[in-house]
Amino acid sequence: MQFSAILVTLAVAFAPALAAPTAEPAALQKRDVGAYVCTGENFTGQCNHITPPYNVCQPFSATGLTGYQSWGPDNGDTCIWYTGGSCTGTQSGNVYYPGYADVPDFWKFNTASFKCYSL
Ligand SMILES: *[C@@H]1O[C@H](CO)[C@@H](O)[C@H](O)[C@H]1NC(C)=O
Repeated sequence: MQFSAILVTLAVAFAPALAAPTAEPAALQKRDVGAYVCTGENFTGQCNHITPPYNVCQPFSATGLTGYQSWGPDNGDTCIWYTGGSCTGTQSGNVYYPGYADVPDFWKFNTASFKCYSL
């Protein structure tokens, strides 16, 4: 009884955080977005925090890294990876915050470009 009351309290307390993100006003969508990218799993190795322009395709080299195994969009931001340059070829699903501590192998080896935006 008491346990379930605690669960209900927790569910209510966290409900706003779980709600679907609402669209930001257009002005805010012009801001840069961000992602933390590392050469090692679990955000280890060499890491860079990148701030690509909103929804503008970037070559993988814009990460400043020669490869990556973890990728974490900033809170509220989302990225998409592409196998081809200029965001062509096969695209990944949306990579939502907090991202991947261990990026799927296919994308570790085949990401040629990417873009990030916020929902
Ligand atoms: C990353 O973290 C997971 C979970 O803690 C662990 O199993 C894995 O060995 C870690 N990988 C590396 C390269 O440290």
